[in-house]
Amino acid sequence: MGGVIRFWLDGEVQEVRGANPTTTLLEHLRGPMRRTGTKEGCAEGDCGSCTVLVGEADGDGVAWRAVNSCIQFLPMLHGKALMTVESLGARAGCDQALHPVQQAMVDKHGSQCGFCTPGIVMSLYSRAVGAKGADAPVGEVLAGNLCRCTGYGPIIEVAQGVEAEAPPAVDLSAVRDETMLRLTFEDEIHGVARTWLAPRSLDELAEAYLAHPDATLVAGATDVGLWVTKQRRALPTLISLSEVAELKHLEEAPEGLRIGAGVRYVDALDAISALYPDLGLMMRRLGSTQVRNSGTIGGNIANGSPIGDMPPALIAAGARLVLRRGSERRELALEDFFLAYGQQDRRPGEFVEAVFAPRLDVGRLFKVFKLSKRFDQDISAVCGAFSLAIEEGVVTDARIAFGGMAGTPKRALACEAALTGQPWTEATIAAAMAALDTDYTPMSDMRASAAYRALAARNMLRKAFLETEGVEARVTPESAHG
Ligand SMILES: Cc1cc2nc3c(=O)[nH]c(=O)nc-3n(C[C@H](O)[C@H](O)[C@H](O)COP(=O)(O)OP(=O)(O)OC[C@H]3O[C@@H](n4cnc5c(N)ncnc54)[C@H](O)[C@@H]3O)c2cc1C
Ligand code: FES
Ligand code: FES
Repeated sequence: MGGVIRFWLDGEVQEVRGANPTTTLLEHLRGPMRRTGTKEGCAEGDCGSCTVLVGEADGDGVAWRAVNSCIQFLPMLHGKALMTVESLGARAGCDQALHPVQQAMVDKHGSQCGFCTPGIVMSLYSRAVGAKGADAPVGEVLAGNLCRCTGYGPIIEVAQGVEAEAPPAVDLSAVRDETMLRLTFEDEIHGVARTWLAPRSLDELAEAYLAHPDATLVAGATDVGLWVTKQRRALPTLISLSEVAELKHLEEAPEGLRIGAGVRYVDALDAISALYPDLGLMMRRLGSTQVRNSGTIGGNIANGSPIGDMPPALIAAGARLVLRRGSERRELALEDFFLAYGQQDRRPGEFVEAVFAPRLDVGRLFKVFKLSKRFDQDISAVCGAFSLAIEEGVVTDARIAFGGMAGTPKRALACEAALTGQPWTEATIAAAMAALDTDYTPMSDMRASAAYRALAARNMLRKAFLETEGVEARVTPESAHG
């Protein structure tokens, strides 16, 4: 029986011993802690009914962020602070009292069956206390909270009236134990040893992963969490990246931005928006506030998904990946990392350390389009990114990449060749659209048919063209069938 998980909750230090490391925070709240205000709707990060606030050290203070407790593993809370919907009653001064956000939900009829309400209240409260990502427009803050019965009108009204207040004072030193590098948990049900490692530096991580190359790395767990809650995978050894400070660095230089693999979307958004405004806009639709508050850019690349949203844009931008194994580092073009479906150029014990996103030449055209069934909080059917240099009406350089069109995020080399050296005209675009059929043979699945994907990719290129021409996007005979 191994380590002790310590976290701060409503002015008290909570200690958990002997937990299975893949126990979710939600399971712990609703089970041993009997904090049943936090609800389970989907157990996959989609509905937000399990939203809680996690506070972590940020300079001398504490930075709060709303997260989905259903896909956070309990040890990820070690050394942090927690607020659940029950904390709000305590804040209002008495267990029975309603916090102003709750009272406004009552007054404005923001709740019917009430199942989503605790999660919505926590998202709105995150706005009151200035949590990360909560200063966005109301629609963005609430995009990860699904309500099936009330309708959003009254909830948005409540959101618009939320008044700022100071978050509770927290003493994180009471829960941060520097000796807690290695926690070993034993699964008593199956008698199988389960290990949770939480290295505190890049060197420790490199060493730990070399010693346990079969371990599962966990960053924000917005993918890995679902392997447990939906696929029931056992994951005997996990290595957490969340205590490795070097992985969370964002370094801006004249040549571009070095993004540590552990940087969360919420923390990268401003810097990426400054570098590639279109990608910044697309990132606001990647997952939800809760997902962006946990998920990392390194996780989105490392999982190798053909429908991950960051790789197409970063490939089009010419990004390079830094990989680390033991004391060795190597660098490769991001597109070369993706070998085939489910296969990346990564050796046992090797992990993603950072991605370098170059600054674009002045005047270079950079467009990113995401197509999904729902505007927010939905995985792309197709995601296209276009980086083009156009001089005196002629395309001098083109880098184009798509997600959702092949088994990996992939460059459109035939399309690029059809554009390069050609005038930026309707005729060139028509030829380049046709060339996409050489680049890709997309598949049909629940998100889109192969034909729809092929047409959508062609029309994204056309959209990029029309937008630069200052011509309003027109519905072509082809796209009318989309
Ligand atoms: C509700 C919901 C909505 C989502 N919406 C989107 C969306 O719109 N677009 C999108 O692209 N994705 C979406 N995702 C997927 C997910 O949020 C992203 O892929 C996210 O970036 C994963 O990052 P993470 O830190 O949570 O990774 P984790 O889940 O911790 O890890 C993901 C994978 O990467 C590995 N890994 C993590 N870090 C490293 C590293 N440094 N080196 C090597 N391997 C590593 C892990 O072992 C695992 O295989 C969504 C997920 C959810 C739950
Ligand atoms: S239960 Fe739906 S997001 Fe957690
Ligand atoms: S009040 Fe019923 S789901 Fe929102």
